Amino acid sequence: MDRLQNLPMDLRNLLRTIRLKAKYALFLVLVVVLVIIEKENKIISKVSDKLNLKQMPQNIFEINSTDSNIIYAENGSLTSLSELDSAFFQFRKRLANVTLQFGGSNAFLSDVPKSTRKHILLMATTRTGSSFVGEFFNQQGNIFYLFEPLWHIERTVTFESIGANAVGSAIVYRDVLHQLLLCDLYTLESFISPTPEHHLTRFMFRRGSSKSLCEDPVCTPLVKKASEKYHCKNRRCGPLNMTLAMESCLNKDHVAIKAVRIRQLGFLKTLVEDPRLDMRIIQLVRDPRAVLASRMVAFSGKYESWKKWALEGAAPIPEDEVQKLKGNCDNIRLSAELGLSQPKWLRGRYMLIRYEDIARYPLQKAKEMYKFAEITLTPQVKEWIIKNTQASQGNSGVYSTQKNSSEQFEKWRFSIPFKLAQVVQEVCEPAMQLFGYKLASDLETLTNRSISLLEDRVNFWVT
Ligand SMILES: *[C@@H]1O[C@H](CO)[C@@H](O)[C@H](O)[C@H]1NC(C)=O
Ligand SMILES: *[C@@H]1O[C@H](CO)[C@@H](O)[C@H](O)[C@H]1NC(C)=O
Ligand SMILES: *[C@@H]1O[C@H](CO)[C@@H](O)[C@H](O)[C@H]1NC(C)=O
Ligand SMILES: *[C@@H]1O[C@H](CO)[C@@H](O)[C@H](O)[C@H]1NC(C)=O
Ligand SMILES: *[C@@H]1O[C@H](CO)[C@@H](O)[C@H](O)[C@H]1NC(C)=O
Ligand SMILES: *[C@@H]1O[C@H](CO)[C@@H](O)[C@H](O)[C@H]1NC(C)=O
Repeated sequence: MDRLQNLPMDLRNLLRTIRLKAKYALFLVLVVVLVIIEKENKIISKVSDKLNLKQMPQNIFEINSTDSNIIYAENGSLTSLSELDSAFFQFRKRLANVTLQFGGSNAFLSDVPKSTRKHILLMATTRTGSSFVGEFFNQQGNIFYLFEPLWHIERTVTFESIGANAVGSAIVYRDVLHQLLLCDLYTLESFISPTPEHHLTRFMFRRGSSKSLCEDPVCTPLVKKASEKYHCKNRRCGPLNMTLAMESCLNKDHVAIKAVRIRQLGFLKTLVEDPRLDMRIIQLVRDPRAVLASRMVAFSGKYESWKKWALEGAAPIPEDEVQKLKGNCDNIRLSAELGLSQPKWLRGRYMLIRYEDIARYPLQKAKEMYKFAEITLTPQVKEWIIKNTQASQGNSGVYSTQKNSSEQFEKWRFSIPFKLAQVVQEVCEPAMQLFGYKLASDLETLTNRSISLLEDRVNFWVT
């Protein structure tokens, strides 16, 4: 670590604030080595000059709080991210290179992709119905589908200070996503805990949600019984062999990934511009009042103060939590505004879709998404959708996707306390206006079924 002394101050601070759990340490060593190499190229010093120039370090690296400052930090760092981006370009290329070499042979990764191969990102936030919509792609036999792989990064890397979180995590998420879309699954191994040995792991998050990871030949015979946290549905498989998974990915016609951890569409520019990727980004949004209602059920412990305030008139909701809600709504809106503004780099590659429309017209919306992605919708997908949107009872666990969807999508209106709906309306109004979610002025409006809170947007946006 002595060599850290040679690095510019900002960078040293940044590295010190990035706190790493054990299994990420190796990756860190690579990063540090590469950073030192880059320093010779004066690239990093260029970055820190820029940061000094813009007075950014104070904002980015020293603010210490939870997500509450994320709007500020992210807003403040949006331009600087693109600057960082160009400066880090070489750095990232080497990082990918080293990761690949580290993982072993990368010979088959350099195969020229099939020209019709599509790369789909389902970009969402939690509790927007993304597991359900992800199934539309998971069920298509020729798509290699990954369910929330970036979860592993959130688990193994923690960025201590808020600014490092905003910038650093955006870059790491984006770059790992990039490699995954190219079928380089070894990259993910650096973030899986415990670290896979011989490319075998029993800890791939929600493996069972990805058909591609549970079918032959990726499902290897179970040799000895071991406790598996994430197992395949309906069958037992041996530990996941990442090499086999990678081969499966390369053999399928298309790749689709669901991710709830990409906060800004703008971060994805380098992926969209990569000629090896034919990107299609589908941004899924949902009424933020419904999202809050759903989160209060799924993560109820986190919302104690909200409930107490709404139902018992206890102490107000902590301001940082309200700001966090606002930050989420702003990020979603800013991403959609960017997509809808049709910048040249995104043309034909961005689609915005509302969960409520999917819930009401699932098959029609699935067809629209497939048309946008230029992929054939198979009978299996159609069948799955019909079967899973009309069930009147049965599975109804918190993460269940099998529901009578046109009955379910408005249920939140009867469970959320009106005071909380009001809070959401206050901080998320610009997003709600953009997406066509009508404000409810009183409890009667909120709970009157014959009043729709949805503005009809017949042809929702494809750009
Ligand atoms: C960051 O916040 C934590 C908890 O609020 C506090 O213990 C710590 O001293 C703070 N660090 C800095 C650098 O302000
Ligand atoms: C972001 O920055 C711009 C320009 O400084 C400012 O007008 C805008 O209000 C900021 N947005 C947020 C959400 O803070
Ligand atoms: C990546 O590795 C390949 C082969 O090992 C090498 O030819 C190429 O120059 C490397 N690229 C960078 C940016 O280091
Ligand atoms: C994983 O699969 C690859 C490709 O078939 C194979 O060569 C390798 O031996 C497998 N690894 C283990 C530990 O079984
Ligand atoms: C699903 O709910 C809608 C709206 O309540 C209802 O019209 C429809 O009959 C239900 N479908 C099934 C299969 O239960
Ligand atoms: C619900 O709204 C409709 C249409 O505005 C109205 O006619 C009806 O009286 C309302 N029902 C209740 C219970 O308020």
